[in-house]
Amino acid sequence: MKAIIYDSFGNLESGKYEDTADPELKPGTVLINVLYAGVIPFDVKVIEKVIPMPHIKSPFIPGAEFSGVVVQVAKDVENWQVGDYVCGNPNSYGGAFADQIVVKTEELCKIPPGLALESAAACPVSSLAAWHGLFNEGTLNKGDKVLIIGATGNVGSFAVQFAAQAELIVYAVGSAQYEYDTLTLGANYYLDYKKQDYLENLPKFDLILDMVGGENQKKLIPLLKEGAVFISLVNEPDPEELNLYNVKGLMLNSGSNPKQLEEILELIQIGEIKVKVSKVLLMQDAVLGLEEVKDGKENGKVILKN
Ligand SMILES: NC(=O)c1ccc[n+]([C@@H]2O[C@H](COP(=O)([O-])OP(=O)(O)OC[C@H]3O[C@@H](n4cnc5c(N)ncnc54)[C@H](OP(=O)(O)O)[C@@H]3O)[C@@H](O)[C@H]2O)c1
Repeated sequence: MKAIIYDSFGNLESGKYEDTADPELKPGTVLINVLYAGVIPFDVKVIEKVIPMPHIKSPFIPGAEFSGVVVQVAKDVENWQVGDYVCGNPNSYGGAFADQIVVKTEELCKIPPGLALESAAACPVSSLAAWHGLFNEGTLNKGDKVLIIGATGNVGSFAVQFAAQAELIVYAVGSAQYEYDTLTLGANYYLDYKKQDYLENLPKFDLILDMVGGENQKKLIPLLKEGAVFISLVNEPDPEELNLYNVKGLMLNSGSNPKQLEEILELIQIGEIKVKVSKVLLMQDAVLGLEEVKDGKENGKVILKN
């Protein structure tokens, strides 16, 4: 099969689209023809070794999320058939920037009929990270206030919609140009992070979901109510700062969750949740897609198509 191959870590440009061995079916797995793969910041971080993944040895095929069609099932597999349309984000990471991928059935999600396959490929990582970030740790109730940092991004725009659906009061932080779109998705208030005073005169929050990280967390943690929760998807929040304000906090590593993903896909299919695909590139142009995601200029998911 053809795939994007990295012979070493470090350099996005070094990825090549070339022939490689077909993946092998193992017990409990299915073989999938990848139709679309989402490109995410994590792919860039893995390739550039910003996040070390010791279990991944070079040469390797990147790609965390995909949609596709089952073309072969292992002998012991029940309930999955050739022809099933599926998507997922296997916990082991990698392999989606290829013609084919082998996935354990417990990490697979069936795509509801009628949902566009490129939209399905844009969902597994971002929508589940948003869902887990909002609902895994906190016990949020209707009317609670959440602050979403990076609300205009792929994870953030899902988070805004899930929070609005749960009838939380949503304060969304992003750049000015996406204010209208983000309010349309259900945010109650919009804060432009390019304004110096954007964190002033805010109420206390029940949960902060941070997709940006860094030094800014020192300004965010004091905005929480006592006992409330700070979730970062990017870096560990400073434990001293958390203690000082008597709040809980953690860095979340979101993973595969097919049952939850299926519920989210059904909401997308009936139009209750929107997913934005901003660009579809051919699989052989994966390096371009990775560079665009690294630049952060795209608003919406970059998708690769086989
Ligand atoms: N731990 C996990 O399991 C997990 C899972 C998924 C993602 N992540 C991480 O979460 C991060 C976001 O992912 P993504 O896919 O949503 O990326 P994305 O689509 O590139 O979105 C990032 C957003 O952050 C916004 N932003 C940049 N600087 C900001 C600031 N100072 N304040 C507020 N917003 C700011 C940008 O907004 P503007 O365009 O409006 O400037 C952009 O829309 C990445 O670092 C990713 O690796 C982690």
